[in-house]
Amino acid sequence: MGTKLFTTLLIVALSQFVVCEKVVFCNYEAKAHLRDGLAKFEITDIEPALQYCTHLVYGYAAINDDTLKVTPLNEQFDVIKDNYRKVTDLKKKYPKLKVLLSVGGNDDVSGEGEEKNKKYREVLETSARRLAFINSAHTLIKGFGFDGMDLAWEFPETKPKKIKSGIGAFWSSVKKTIAGESVIDENAEQHREQFSSLIKELKSTFRPDNLLVTLTVLPNVNSTVYYDPRALSQNLDFIILHAFDFYTPQRNKKLADVPAPLYELIDRRNDENVDAWVKYWLSNGAPASKLVLGIPAYGRTWHLDPESNVEELPITGLDGPGEPGPQTKEAGLLSYPEICTKVENVKGGKGGSTPSQFKKVSDSRRQGVYAYHKPTENEEEKEGLWIGYEDPESAANKALYAKSKGLAGIAVDDITLDDFRGVCGHSRYGILKSAVNALI
Ligand SMILES: *[C@@H]1O[C@H](CO)[C@@H](O)[C@H](O)[C@H]1NC(C)=O
Repeated sequence: MGTKLFTTLLIVALSQFVVCEKVVFCNYEAKAHLRDGLAKFEITDIEPALQYCTHLVYGYAAINDDTLKVTPLNEQFDVIKDNYRKVTDLKKKYPKLKVLLSVGGNDDVSGEGEEKNKKYREVLETSARRLAFINSAHTLIKGFGFDGMDLAWEFPETKPKKIKSGIGAFWSSVKKTIAGESVIDENAEQHREQFSSLIKELKSTFRPDNLLVTLTVLPNVNSTVYYDPRALSQNLDFIILHAFDFYTPQRNKKLADVPAPLYELIDRRNDENVDAWVKYWLSNGAPASKLVLGIPAYGRTWHLDPESNVEELPITGLDGPGEPGPQTKEAGLLSYPEICTKVENVKGGKGGSTPSQFKKVSDSRRQGVYAYHKPTENEEEKEGLWIGYEDPESAANKALYAKSKGLAGIAVDDITLDDFRGVCGHSRYGILKSAVNALI
């Protein structure tokens, strides 16, 4: 009797302990070693982040176009230069750290138009292909000492919302009623079932070796179309929701919004916000203890015309992606340190002690942060810029949201775009650190 009571108490005490333990997924984009100057990210730059991370996710592996097996995305860097091994070797110094290899993540680019990323659907379609995929995944994961695999599955994206007027609007509403605006894949229903099968089969191969299987829901992949929360969550350790980038300068050239609004806002689709994603997964059978909320560590930028309307979100009348960042060099994208040096007066900033020309607007509780600069008369038009992003405060608010919903934790996407050198006037990894402090 006494032993039984003791055991019960022990279980209660342990479960209390487990409930408090939050996970922090740190995405690591390996290609960041190719960036210039201060944005060049080496393996040694990861270490200061590891005091915050429970899981390190290596991005990315690919699917071979012909064999449909999992393969390194960059054989030279990942394997010959041993980067896979260097990353999994971090576990020697950080024994609690779990290191996962992620496949997909929009880095594995193939085909165009209807053919785009078709292999991510083809591999699902027969059990023989799924088996070949699973076996190749198992070999790769075991071979390099990873703790499991993340599937950042490249299902087709939703169609961006268009701004319509006049006759175009009439025809598009006719088309909508005939074809349905959201039809992006005629075989979506089969793909949804086959994906659940893949996860089930993958987990049963991985389970004997205690290997983890996680899913990353990529931005603009419609969960209601492709993912069955109840079936999937039985066989997944975690589900990471990249609920951001609803508007990007590539998808929406003339329309801008903050990357990750927490709640529904007027003039947006009702499922394009963090809360809608979380609600979908929770109300369809995924336990909160497996859901992880993604937080972006970068900003999206658009060219701002003198005529653009900046008074309210979403911003209209924009002119495509902003200039590439001085170090990240990708149109329409800036890392957090590239943003902070532009917007806030911090060391490393272009103007030094001259005040920033940017106006920053923060509604971190509900939406996020943005900053903009309208070109003045004696400036060229290309100086105009609108940036939607997260700062440490808004990232902390996202973590508080995750905590209030009882979610498993957060994921930062990705640590190479965070302020890993500490140039923004906080300590190193300002976004990650602030979010983790709010979470625990
Ligand atoms: C996602 O799919 C549902 C139908 O399952 C649709 O109602 C909704 O509009 C879609 N969302 C987007 C953003 O396309």
